[in-house]
Amino acid sequence: MKDFWSSFAEATEDKIKFKKPFYCLAPMAGITDSAFRQICKEFGADVVYSEMASATALVYNPQPTLEMLRFSRKEKPYVVQLFGSNPEHFATATKLTTKKIKPDGIDINFGCPVKKVQKQGAGAVLMNDLKLSREIIETTIKNTDLPVSIKCRSKVGNVDALKFLDSVKDLDIKAVMIHGRTLSQGHSGPVDFEIIKKVRNHFGGIIIANGGVRDYKTAQEMLEKTGANGIGIGQGALGEPWAFREFRISNFEFRIDDIKKIVLKHAKLAHKLKGEQGIIEMRKHLCWYVAGWSNASEIRREFVKVENINEIKEVLNF
Ligand SMILES: Cc1cc2nc3c(=O)[nH]c(=O)nc-3n(C[C@H](O)[C@H](O)[C@H](O)COP(=O)(O)O)c2cc1C
Repeated sequence: MKDFWSSFAEATEDKIKFKKPFYCLAPMAGITDSAFRQICKEFGADVVYSEMASATALVYNPQPTLEMLRFSRKEKPYVVQLFGSNPEHFATATKLTTKKIKPDGIDINFGCPVKKVQKQGAGAVLMNDLKLSREIIETTIKNTDLPVSIKCRSKVGNVDALKFLDSVKDLDIKAVMIHGRTLSQGHSGPVDFEIIKKVRNHFGGIIIANGGVRDYKTAQEMLEKTGANGIGIGQGALGEPWAFREFRISNFEFRIDDIKKIVLKHAKLAHKLKGEQGIIEMRKHLCWYVAGWSNASEIRREFVKVENINEIKEVLNF
């Protein structure tokens, strides 16, 4: 049976029809929860990723993580991302996620630069351990019938994306998202288009380019310079989930009144899913939504205190 990645590949590889890239909401811890994923989906995100979930937490204390990973049908195709460094934990976490969450795919994190994650030997630093990385990917594939994808960096230490992928090229990895920045760059700075292009030419398969895409122009630049099938959007969607529409239309405009409507919709979803806690967690999104408004700093001072939808309406004067 064809998985959802293959249908995207067919659309993007079709040389006769207009080349059609796909756009993914990249995984972002503390940000890409169900409410935000649904909003991005509404604006045209083709695939949405969960926040990264700890494979170890899914072994020892699964309930809170399973709760975090729940999704609505509107988010499909939805990919759950796991991080960790213990293959046995990946085996259990993969089985549990497949059975209890039933996402459309499972992704493995080889890109996280956070110190706490590095200390566990997980995330980006795993790229330096080719043997363990391979074992983790093999175990994940073995324990699910869902398509398995990976997300890695352009380079970590002496291992670049080419060397890393070369060591796992015989495994059934359905898609690779490459963040075109090194581990030491973190989440900002110039993106290495060249390495993504080399990977694309060398391995074929489904390559999703990630890093620094903010708007139509940067999306086009990424596609032209890398030849990737799709793009992963992280920070470009913060406070601008309509970016997914903007990527497809060169002169797209969104007015303040339209933004206010989206803010309320997002808040209602957050409240429906998590109650008051949802609104509190959403405060950062509220602050991002008003970036560039003339009274942004005044509004933000209020937004960091809001606890319910009525207070949000009052701040927005809506
Ligand atoms: C706050 C934040 C949280 C992130 N969390 C994750 C994560 O859970 N898993 C992951 O693979 N990448 C994570 N990333 C990295 C993004 O997915 C993405 O690779 C990175 O932000 C570069 O893309 P961008 O320039 O479009 O933002 C995170 C990035 C940010 C800014």
